[in-house]
Amino acid sequence: MRDFEICDIHGHFLPGMDDGSASVAESLQMLEMAASQGISCMCATPHYYPVETVNEFLVRRDESVRQLTEAMNASGKKFPQIYLGAEVAYRQGIGNADDLEKLCLGNSNYLLLELPFTPWKQSMFRDISSMSNVRGIIPVIAHVERYVPLQTRKNLQKLLEQDVVFQMNAEHLLHWTTRGKAKSLLRNGMVHLLGSDCHNLTTRKPNLGAALDRLQKSKLGAAVYQAAQFSMEIFEQTQ
Ligand SMILES: [Fe+2]
Repeated sequence: MRDFEICDIHGHFLPGMDDGSASVAESLQMLEMAASQGISCMCATPHYYPVETVNEFLVRRDESVRQLTEAMNASGKKFPQIYLGAEVAYRQGIGNADDLEKLCLGNSNYLLLELPFTPWKQSMFRDISSMSNVRGIIPVIAHVERYVPLQTRKNLQKLLEQDVVFQMNAEHLLHWTTRGKAKSLLRNGMVHLLGSDCHNLTTRKPNLGAALDRLQKSKLGAAVYQAAQFSMEIFEQTQ
């Protein structure tokens, strides 16, 4: 087991919120799985799409958390601590959208943002700039590894130069076909935070601890430790 704490800042384990956990029972098992890997805390980041208002989303999220917390307390088991956020899908004009602050991770000013899987436009960079420079919201770019094959190096570099943070999924480090690429992203300073992006107990399960165990004694141990420290700093802002 590790000698440092880490918070999994990206997970879809709230029951019935999105394409993640489908039931309270599944959520409890996901949390247990994370706890067994030594994960101290987890941020719930259900997908937010503007098909509903932010307030409607928050009402649904509160109810889902209520059900999950009740079941956690009733079980008497020890689970990671939970705090709340969202994975917000980018849309043009989002830089000026209402209520974005309410979707940040806990009480922090970090917002988990999913970017388009099509070539990025100038308007996206402007939106990101107004989020961070005007509103003080720092976008955490979700699963950066997914954009790498789709975007030009110039665009990735341009994004990295803005006030943003890159998050990589643990799966990228675990799968033998992508492990090399994942390590290279870490080595090149393209990863500031790690997350499981867990959705279920099978194909996209909580696996952050498993990924860390593979890495902590490698040459990338320092980068991993830094990412862990950063995740705990964000968590502490929620307390
Ligand atoms: Fe996600």
